[in-house]
Amino acid sequence: MSTQKTSFPREKIKILFLEGIHPSAAKAFEDAGYKVELVAHALGEEELCERIKGVHLLGIRSKTQVTKKVLASADSLLSLGCFCIGTNQVALEAACQSGVPVFNAPFSNTRSVAELTLAEIVMLARRAAHRSQLLHDGKWDKSASHSYEVRGKVVGIIGYGHIGPQVGLLAEAFGMKVQYFDIARKLPLGNASVCGSLSELLSTSDFVTLHVPETPATKGMIAKDELRKMKRGSYLLNLSRGTVVDLGALRESLESGHISGAAVDVFPKEPKSNDEPFDSELRGVPNVILTPHVGGSTQEAQKNIGKEVSEALLCFTEMGVTTGAVNFPQVALPHIEDTHRVLNIHRNVPGVLSSINSLVAEMGANIQAQYLGTNKDVGYLIMDVGPNLSAEVKEQIEALDVNIKTRVLF
Ligand code: NAI
Repeated sequence: MSTQKTSFPREKIKILFLEGIHPSAAKAFEDAGYKVELVAHALGEEELCERIKGVHLLGIRSKTQVTKKVLASADSLLSLGCFCIGTNQVALEAACQSGVPVFNAPFSNTRSVAELTLAEIVMLARRAAHRSQLLHDGKWDKSASHSYEVRGKVVGIIGYGHIGPQVGLLAEAFGMKVQYFDIARKLPLGNASVCGSLSELLSTSDFVTLHVPETPATKGMIAKDELRKMKRGSYLLNLSRGTVVDLGALRESLESGHISGAAVDVFPKEPKSNDEPFDSELRGVPNVILTPHVGGSTQEAQKNIGKEVSEALLCFTEMGVTTGAVNFPQVALPHIEDTHRVLNIHRNVPGVLSSINSLVAEMGANIQAQYLGTNKDVGYLIMDVGPNLSAEVKEQIEALDVNIKTRVLF
């Protein structure tokens, strides 16, 4: 992280982290010279509307709702960090329109999911969860029947993005053969081979594991027909999204003995909190491992999330970089020595860049570098100008009626 001299004293930047965000996040800021206020729980809308006043950077997890009303009360907010994967709890469009980029950490728990997947492949092959359940019920079932090594077996990975290849590498360490299917062209890692179609993968894999996003194309992508195409005696794992597998069809397939076992971590309908009961078609089916959407929930993932989101917030605060923002044009510009950096967020209407450039030219300031990114609502411009004119440039740009926010960084 840069220790660039900034135009703002770091100790004056007000940072509020809610919901017991991992200490790695506050540490990243403290190491960079900032102070962070920590609150262990989520805040309701009314309280947050009060507490957000004067706050420059807000950190939340999944329980704090950042609504339009909250954003309207935020008089100083520069950016918002979701120290989690999802960002549904934030009014993203309203945040964008008020010039607030939102960051999250979509890939910090990749390895955690891959590890659980491999563990479950072994557990399914040995019927270990089922036998554990029997022992809890007082039944001793010592036998080698329906127990297999995974060495030499074929694992078929559907979706070879971040998690898929990690599963493949760990599976190879167990001596498994790895194949995958993805709609995009992907470079195979290790000795993995690519399948030409989903049907090919389904009909040739001993274990089928899903690592696709939730899209219209993946909704119900494993239903009756696909389960029928799977090898008799094979296993299915879903640690991706609940809507990808038709659980009723899976239950039938398990009960008929065509599928030998399944591990499911995600469900079409999940309880909103630990106080709500859970129900599913798969409850009570033998050799089915059910976990409460914990594939990515580890201490290491939390720590990585803390670091990843803090880094993104710091890069934005100190350099204006919005790479990875979920609701904002993604702009990054390397720093040029002896220049002032001006950041401008404006309503995205035609001609803004030429108005800004004319203003700057009239003032005799030299633009050393600039980068504009736009989405349907806003344009975001980073501009490095020659020494000493940044305050005037800022003032002139702020006077434009399309201006949302203008800031001089250094
Ligand atoms: P990613 O976006 O890096 O990779 C997804 C891959 O699926 C991409 O390569 C994409 O091209 C491919 N894909 C998309 N549609 C497809 C289709 N119709 N057929 C075949 N391939 C298709 O995602 P990542 O990080 O690997 O995550 C995968 C899934 O795991 C996501 O749904 C994510 O929400 C879920 N996840 C679950 C966690 C848990 O706690 N159980 C934790 C983290 C992620």
